[in-house]
Amino acid sequence: MKKSGVYPAWIACALLACASFAGMAAATAPAAAGGGSRVAALEAKIDALEQRLPPPELGHQMLELQIRHDRLWWSGEAGNWNLAYYMAGELGEALHGIEATNGDAPELQPEKLSVIMPAIMNPAIEGVQAALAKKDKAAFAQAYDHLSASCNACHALAGDEFLHIQRPKTPLLDNLRYAPAAPR
Ligand code: HEC
Repeated sequence: MKKSGVYPAWIACALLACASFAGMAAATAPAAAGGGSRVAALEAKIDALEQRLPPPELGHQMLELQIRHDRLWWSGEAGNWNLAYYMAGELGEALHGIEATNGDAPELQPEKLSVIMPAIMNPAIEGVQAALAKKDKAAFAQAYDHLSASCNACHALAGDEFLHIQRPKTPLLDNLRYAPAAPR
């Protein structure tokens, strides 16, 4: 009994929605026809504006690398493999971000950062990931030192050999737990 009272209202609603949808489609159709070229024009404008933005400062981007490099050490050193793997991935992402946004960094000229950085750093990050996958602390430490040496290789190339990256001795931040969760 109750159902028969509900059905007509439901059907009416569906029809109403249908009708208004059809109306909307009709109203937007003419705009869509000329929309393609407008979108292309807007995209071209955004590209031009992006060209005019100064690239981020390489020194600032390096500070993020410094933090990520530190956190990777403490998580690997603690044998917190999942966290360390995550940290290695984040460091890799930060590097790719620098390559994408600062590929022509003047600090490295005449070398091209977008070429040098992946050439030096990708194998080093992969080495760390391979050691972490083995859950091997000694292999991790060795791969980590190779990673630091790779950072330094580029600093030397840029004439900044005084920027010497090494294993940290004290955690930069200690509000993130490095120790793995106690087994339950
Ligand atoms: C492709 C080259 C390149 C690689 C790879 C590289 N750096 Fe740098 N780094 C530079 C250059 C060039 C500077 C100097 C920037 C400047 O003059 O402002 C720098 C500066 C720095 C600084 C000093 C930033 C400041 O302003 O105080 C730190 C810290 C740093 N890098 C950390 C790292 C770490 C950690 C890694 C590796 C995970 C790394 N860098 C990898 C090129 C590189």
